[in-house]
Formats: sequence, C-alpha cells, structure tokens
Amino acid sequence: MSLTSFTLSGRDGAARTGVISTPRGEIRTPAFMPVGTAATVKAMLPESVRATGADILLGNTYHLMLRPGAERVARLGGLHKFMNWERPILTDSGGFQVMSLSGLRKLTEEGVTFKSHIDGSKHMLSPESSMEIQRLLGSDIVMCFDECPALPADRKRIEQSMRLSMRWAQRSRDAFGDRPGHMLFGIQQGGLEEDLRGESAEALTSIGFDGYAVGGLAVGEGQEAMFKVLDFAPGQLPEDKPRYLMGVGKPDDIVGAVKRGIDMMDCVLPSRSGRTGQAWTRRGMVNIKNARHQDDPRPLDEHCTCPACRSYSRAYLHHVYRAGEMISGMLLTWHNLHYYQELMQGLRDAIAGGTFAAFEDQFHAQRAEGDI
Ligand code: GUN
Ligand code: ZN
Repeated sequence: MSLTSFTLSGRDGAARTGVISTPRGEIRTPAFMPVGTAATVKAMLPESVRATGADILLGNTYHLMLRPGAERVARLGGLHKFMNWERPILTDSGGFQVMSLSGLRKLTEEGVTFKSHIDGSKHMLSPESSMEIQRLLGSDIVMCFDECPALPADRKRIEQSMRLSMRWAQRSRDAFGDRPGHMLFGIQQGGLEEDLRGESAEALTSIGFDGYAVGGLAVGEGQEAMFKVLDFAPGQLPEDKPRYLMGVGKPDDIVGAVKRGIDMMDCVLPSRSGRTGQAWTRRGMVNIKNARHQDDPRPLDEHCTCPACRSYSRAYLHHVYRAGEMISGMLLTWHNLHYYQELMQGLRDAIAGGTFAAFEDQFHAQRAEGDI
C-alpha cells in the first residue's frame, strides 16, 4: 500500500477534480498553493492561511538553504515544525530561483554555482544537493532540479536547456530514491514548442514520477501564448497523475489553466499584491490606494466572508495603507488568499457538478462589470 495517492473524482471537458492524499493530509484539486518562500506566508499566521482554505503551502529550496540553512531546519525538527504548518508542503528545487534572483551564476552539466542575493557568498546546487536539501526540509512534494530560459529565447537554447533538465530529472529521481509518504514531481520544459514539450513529457514519463509539472511558463510570454501551450501540454502528461502549473497566476490565468487540465498552481500574486495595496475580488483588481476609497464605508466585497471584508471599510483599508500600517498588508493578504481559495472551491464544485462552462461565463461576466 502506497502512503500517497491521487484520486480523480470528476471531470468536465479537460478540467478535473480530485484529491492528493499524503500522510500530512489531503490536497483537494484543483489546488492553489500560497507561497511561503522564507518559511512564512508573509503577513499571515499559518492558522489564518489554513482558515482561507489552503491545503498545502509552497516553500523554496533556494531561500531556505541560504537562510536559515537546511541543516539548521532539520536540527530544529523540519520545516513543518519550524514554521508551525503541519499540513503538506511542496518545495521548489532552487534552479529556477537561482536564475531569477542570484547574482553571478555559472551553469554546467553538474549543476549551477551562484552568489547569494543576501550576502554574496558562493554556493552550488545540483540535482543531488537539491534532493538532499528538500529531504532535510522534510518536504512532502519534492520538485526535480531543473533550469529554464526566459522567453523569448531561440529554439536551440530552449532545446538544449530542456535536454539538460531531462538529464537532471533522471539524476533527481536516482538521488531521491524510495521515500514512502513523499512524492517526487518531474518538470516538463520545452518553451512554447509542441514537439519539444512532447519530447520532455516522454523523457519524464519513462523515468516515472508521482506528479508532473508544466514549467517554463509565465516567464514573459503572455497569457495567449501560455494558453496555447496549455492546449496541448497537459495532454502530453500522464492522465492519472497530478499536473502542476508552476508560478501561475492571476485569477483569469487560473480559470484558463484549470479548464485545460491543470490540477495545482502556486503564485506570489495574492500575497505580494496584498502588501502593495492591491485586492482581488470577483469584479477584478481593486487598488486600495486610490483616493476614491477614502470616504467609502462599504467593504471591499460585500459577499466576501474574510475578516477584512466582514469588519473593515474601504475607507479604513485605504487609510492604513496610506499610513504604512502593518495591518494593511495583513488584511489585504488575508482577503486575497481567501478570494483565491474561494475561486478554487468554486472551480472544484463546478467540475464536480458538470457546470464548468457556466462558472467560467459568470466569472468573466462579473469581472466585466468592474469594481462597484
Ligand atoms: N517556477 C515557475 N516556473 C518554474 C520552472 O520552470 N521550474 C521551477 N523549478 N520552478 C518554477
Ligand atoms: Zn474579503
């Protein structure tokens, strides 16, 4: 008997709903994973994140290896205990963050050497060391070590990068070994090219993983190009395993991705934009900094049941943002995560009930109306 599983319970077109089971709890899919890069979802207590409806968080190998260090986290009982989140955690493998965040870096067949964005110290990441760090952290869902170019990039560069990531996927699989209760996900690369994505999917499938991510998207190509890839990429991956779209996205990206067969997503957007005065509601994005809110006694969204909407006016949210008060980021982050999780529940219910098309129509109609 396997300690982890993925069970699909409903479909509507290409969209799917189901449950990933792990010893630390169940993940209802389609799932949105709030980002807890540095062992915290910024501005939120873990119990508050859970109250929004999150089943799983994302953590980052890159950040945690640099500070506070994976060995230290392990000595302190692992990432779950350290950050007071006992439910599932997925960790990204580090390569992608090295490329986007670190200073000087050098890519070789072995791995990547780089300078820390915190203190300039020199480090190395490889498939083997990334697997070891994610083991020390105690991650429930471990990501393969991969690499991807920013788009646009020429085909040769995308092909070479994808093939390197596939060799790293095999090394990740070998280094991960057999760890009951923990899952290892492969990451498909190949840019916007259907044949390269197909080659990548075949390489990963023949190695064999517990789930498959679609990587290398939301890197500057735009929604239309991303959806074009999602029209074929999920279908290249095994039907019976979770499919995870990395680093996506805005609410309309999420609806479009789920429609095309994606089961999991993560993005900093709801938490990051909460700290810059942006709120996401059924009617689109609201800029709480805008002076039009300063005398408005109404909540952000009268239908929302989050603490920010239940107990505070737009005028108050505007004021605390302008005054630079910490509660501003706390309330808007809570609202945004609540909105995202409510969207995911709506998607799951619509798929289970066979009403995805109607849900999607209503989603777009409400946004077209604009903010109150
Ligand atoms: N986050 C967003 N995109 C990617 C990707 O392609 N690979 C990894 N490892 N993380 C990501
Ligand atoms: Zn709210």
